[in-house]
Amino acid sequence: MKTINLTNTAADIDQAAALIQAGEVVAFPTETVYGLGADATNDQAVQAVFTAKGRPADNPLIMTVGSASQLTPYVEVSHQARQLMNAFWPGSLTIILPVKDNAVSMLVTGGLQTAAVRMPDNEATRAMIRQAGVPIVGPSANLSGKPSPTTAAHVHHDMDGKIAAILDDGPTQVGVESTVIDLTAAVPTILRTGAVTQKMLQVILQKEVVDGTSQKSLAADEVPKAPGMKYRHYAPDKPVIVFDPLDWQDLCQQLVAGDAVMAQEALLADLDQQTWPNWSLGEDVASASENLFSGLRYFDDKEDVKRIFVQSMPEMELGKAYNNRLGKASGGQHFNS
Ligand code: TXA
Ligand code: MG
Repeated sequence: MKTINLTNTAADIDQAAALIQAGEVVAFPTETVYGLGADATNDQAVQAVFTAKGRPADNPLIMTVGSASQLTPYVEVSHQARQLMNAFWPGSLTIILPVKDNAVSMLVTGGLQTAAVRMPDNEATRAMIRQAGVPIVGPSANLSGKPSPTTAAHVHHDMDGKIAAILDDGPTQVGVESTVIDLTAAVPTILRTGAVTQKMLQVILQKEVVDGTSQKSLAADEVPKAPGMKYRHYAPDKPVIVFDPLDWQDLCQQLVAGDAVMAQEALLADLDQQTWPNWSLGEDVASASENLFSGLRYFDDKEDVKRIFVQSMPEMELGKAYNNRLGKASGGQHFNS
């Protein structure tokens, strides 16, 4: 199959919507990362997404919509859910809700009685979904296990020849996947950290929100509730090693040929940048999140690079989401510990 390049023009959005209606797979931009779209009501189309990604079938998919009313036939929208949608949609929040009887395919839910729903903050994508007239499934558009794509070029790298088209709307802004909140649990529970933080959720709901991803809330033998979180994720083929900015001077002395560094501007200013391949994470945690996956992909494809050292961020707000993705990419490997 020849993968077609589409852009955000009206004619291209029409073509993307027509491909979705025809049961084809189309990669789409969001504000977080690129997704792989297909008609969520067409099992063959959904199956094609699993095949393109090489994704385990027990890992359920997000239903992605262009307007909140597109959800009505499929899930029960509670008062709390409505409050969150009003506050954060379109945007980086995925909400787990109960499904209406037999309304959503087992392939989408992974056999659960719940479904994950989200409305992304990208106008071209929302127009495509509204025009297609059906919710689309929307897992990240990477090969299963690889870092999520934040540009159309990343999607090409992983998906060329496997999907019908890529709708290119430039690089994504947030860079890490949406926050996932489960509203079907006894207490609203965060299953994946992202740009919408625990504090922001509590302010809107006016009640406690549990961070189900923090170490202390998961017993050692407990399976994380978001099925996807149990798989190795976001990982380049090369070793990734996390370093604390406090260890920067030590790290600089211990670098050897083949090492590459991803760090903030303030640290890179003291690096011999001619000698050491380096990737800027910008100046704050937002730019670090935006640039994390692209840096990992860049060095993974550079032949002379053997190890990738990446700076950690303070464990708060968006920094939690950043450190979580970096922790998975590194498999827990730390410099100086
Ligand atoms: O930012 C994002 O959310 C991106 C963009 C493309 O929208 N999409 C994305 O999808 O990250 P995916 O499929 O890679 O991640 C969805 C996560 C997985 O960890 C999955 O296990 C979890 O949500 N999930 C989906 N349905 C669920 C359900 N019913 N209950 C619990 N977790 C669920
Ligand atoms: Mg993913």
